[in-house]
Amino acid sequence: MEAADETLDLLIVGAGLYGTYAANTYLQLHPTANIKVLDADADAGGVWSRGRLYPKFWSQTGARLSGFPDVPFKVAEDAPRYHDLFEAKHLTSYLEDYVSIHEYEGASLRERFVFNCWVTKIRKDDDDDVWRIKAKLGGRDVSYTASKLIIATGQNSIPHIPRLPGQESFKGPIIHQKDFGRSKIFTPDEENADDHTNATILGGSKSASDIAYAAATDTTSPRKVNWIIRTTGAGPLILSKAQGFGKYKSLPELGSIRAIASLSSANPFLPDSWWSYFLHRTPVGEWLLNQIWSKNEKESKAIANYHGREGALPGFEKLETETKMRWRSGSIGLLQSDNFWDVIAKNVQVYRGEVVNLEEDVVVLDDGRTVRTDMLLCATGWRQEYSSFDAHEAARLGLPISLNEKDIVAEMRQHWSKLEDDADRKVLQRWPYLKQTEGFHKHTVDSTSYKLYNLTVPPNDQSIAFLGVQLVPNSYHAAGVQTLYAIAVLDGAIELPSIAKMEEEIAFMNRWCPRRYPLGGWKGNVLDYEMVSFTDYLLEQLGLSSHKKQSWWGDLTDPCLAADYAGLVDEYWKKYVRVGS
Ligand SMILES: Cc1cc2nc3c(=O)[nH]c(=O)nc-3n(C[C@H](O)[C@H](O)[C@H](O)COP(=O)(O)OP(=O)(O)OC[C@H]3O[C@@H](n4cnc5c(N)ncnc54)[C@H](O)[C@@H]3O)c2cc1C
Ligand SMILES: NC(=O)c1ccc[n+]([C@@H]2O[C@H](COP(=O)([O-])OP(=O)(O)OC[C@H]3O[C@@H](n4cnc5c(N)ncnc54)[C@H](OP(=O)(O)O)[C@@H]3O)[C@@H](O)[C@H]2O)c1
Repeated sequence: MEAADETLDLLIVGAGLYGTYAANTYLQLHPTANIKVLDADADAGGVWSRGRLYPKFWSQTGARLSGFPDVPFKVAEDAPRYHDLFEAKHLTSYLEDYVSIHEYEGASLRERFVFNCWVTKIRKDDDDDVWRIKAKLGGRDVSYTASKLIIATGQNSIPHIPRLPGQESFKGPIIHQKDFGRSKIFTPDEENADDHTNATILGGSKSASDIAYAAATDTTSPRKVNWIIRTTGAGPLILSKAQGFGKYKSLPELGSIRAIASLSSANPFLPDSWWSYFLHRTPVGEWLLNQIWSKNEKESKAIANYHGREGALPGFEKLETETKMRWRSGSIGLLQSDNFWDVIAKNVQVYRGEVVNLEEDVVVLDDGRTVRTDMLLCATGWRQEYSSFDAHEAARLGLPISLNEKDIVAEMRQHWSKLEDDADRKVLQRWPYLKQTEGFHKHTVDSTSYKLYNLTVPPNDQSIAFLGVQLVPNSYHAAGVQTLYAIAVLDGAIELPSIAKMEEEIAFMNRWCPRRYPLGGWKGNVLDYEMVSFTDYLLEQLGLSSHKKQSWWGDLTDPCLAADYAGLVDEYWKKYVRVGS
C-alpha cells in the first residue's frame, strides 16, 4: 500500500517512453535515490502500452531507430516487417521487459512505478522548495513531496472528442482512438454482432487512416466503412512510402541523418554557413529545396493514384491531399503496407464535410447528406493540457495557457511581446522566404506557446523538467538525449545561461516555429525535420560526444541509430557524477 505524503528525491509523472527512460537513467546515475513514477494507466508504455494496442497498429519508426540506447530493440526474424517497420506490439513487450530487467538496490524499475494513479494537483509553495503532488490511486487520495519533478505526460494522453449536435440521441458508441483497441469494438459478443455494421471514422490524419484500414480489413463481421474528413481543416494526410535505399533501411532512417537537417528549410540549431546561405538565401537554393521536397510529394500521390485506381468507390479521389511536405502544411504519415490504398479505395466510402447533427443511427453532413452509422470512431486528435497545475503556476513554469485566462495572458504578453517582435525580425532577416508561409492554413490558436528553455526547463526554476514536449518523428531518439539534459539541469551539473539569454532563445523558437510550420507551429514545439539538430544541440551543451560517428562523412550521412547513443550515460557519469561521488 502506498504511504501518504511519501517524500521522494525525484517524482516522475508519466510512464510512457520518456518517463520510463528518465526513471532508469536517473537510477543509473543515482542508484540509491528514492524515486517514483506515477501513471494513470494500468501499465507502462503510454501510447505503446498493452491497453492501447489496436489492430493494424504499426510503428512509423524503423526497428534500428527504436528502443532505448542501453537495451537493443529487436524484432524476431520471422515477425512481419515492412521496410524495417514492425507491429507496435513488439515495442509494448520491449517496454514491459525494460522495466522488469533493470534493478537498483534490490528493487526493479517496475517496483518504483505506481499505476492507476492519476495526478490531480501539483504545486510548490513560496515558503519551501519542495513539490507537493496529489493523486487519485484507485479511489484513494495519495500525496507525495519531492525535491525534483519530471513531467512526462505525453502529447497524446487527453483525447479531443468534439461535442457534436444531437449526440445525446445517437444510440451507438462514440469511441476515441485512445480507447479503440481497448474497446474491442470489432469483436463484439455474438448477441450484438449485427449492431455495429456501419462504422464511421471522423478525422483526416494518421489515426483516422489506421482505423479506416483496420475497419476495412477486419473480417469478424460484414461492415460498411465510412470516413468523414471535415472541409475546414488541413484535409486528408499525405502518406509517404516507407522504403529507404542503399544504407537506409527505411525512409525514417533517411530522416535521421545530419545532411537532411540542412535541407530542413530553416534550421535554428545549425550555424549559418556558405551552404545554408546558398540554400536559404538564393533563388537557386530555394528552387532546389522545392524540387527535393516536392519529389516525395509527387511520388506519394502517384502511389495513392487517387484518380485512376481500378475498382475504387466513387469519392476515393476526395482523399487527395494538399499537404506540402516541405512546410508540413497537413498531416504526414508513412505507408505501412502495400495494399493500404487498394483496401481503402475499394472498401471505404469517403465524405468531405462538416458534421452538423447526429441522429439515432445517422450522421448528418452540412450539405444534407446522411451517413448510416452504428459506431462513431473519433480520430480527432488530442488536447495538450497541464490541468494539475493551476493557471498561475503553469504560466510561471512556461506552459501553454488557455487564451480564456485573459488576465494571465495579458500579463504574459506584456513581458514577451517585445522579445517576440525582435525575434520575428531576426527570423525573417535570416530566412526571408519564410514569409511565404503566411497564407497557409493554420490550426486555431487557443493557448499561448511553450516558454521552456530548450523545450525542457523553465528559465526560473531548475527543480522541474518537462520531457516529450517537442513533436518529433522518433521519440526514442529524443528521449535518449533530452532525458540526460533534463537530469543535468535538475542536478545542477551544468550552468544555464542568464534568464535574459534563455528568454531570448525561447522567443526566437516561438517566432521561428509558426513561420517554419504554419499549421501547428504556434506552440513553438514542432521539430519535425530538426530533431537530430535539436538533440545535437543539447549534447553540445552537455559537452558529450560519444554518439559521434568515426568519420565526418559518416557523421553527415549515416542514420543516427539507437545504438549510437549507448555510451552517453557512461560518458555523462564520468564527466559529471564520478567527480562528486
Ligand atoms: C497512435 C499513435 C502512434 C504513434 N506512433 C509513433 C511512432 O511510430 N513513432 C514515434 O516516434 N512516435 C509515435 N507516436 C507519438 C508518441 O507520442 C510517442 O511515440 C511517445 O509515445 C511519446 O512518449 P511520451 O512518454 O511522451 O508519452 P506517452 O506515451 O503518451 O505517455 C504519457 C503517459 O503519461 C500518463 N499521464 C498523462 N497524464 C497523467 C496524469 N495527470 N497523471 C498520471 N499519468 C498521466 C499517461 O497515462 C501515459 O502513460 C504515436 C502516437 C500515437 C497516438
Ligand atoms: N505509428 C502510427 O502509425 C501512428 C498512428 C496514429 C497516430 N500516429 C501519430 O500520432 C500523432 C497524433 O495523430 P492523430 O491522427 O491521432 O491526431 P492529429 O494528427 O492531431 O489529427 C487529428 C485529426 O482530427 C481532425 N479533427 C479535429 N477536430 C475535429 C472535428 N471537430 N471534426 C472533425 N475532424 C476533426 C483534424 O482535422 P483538421 O486538420 O481539420 O483539424 C485531424 O485530421 C501524430 O504524431 C501521428 O503521426 C502514429
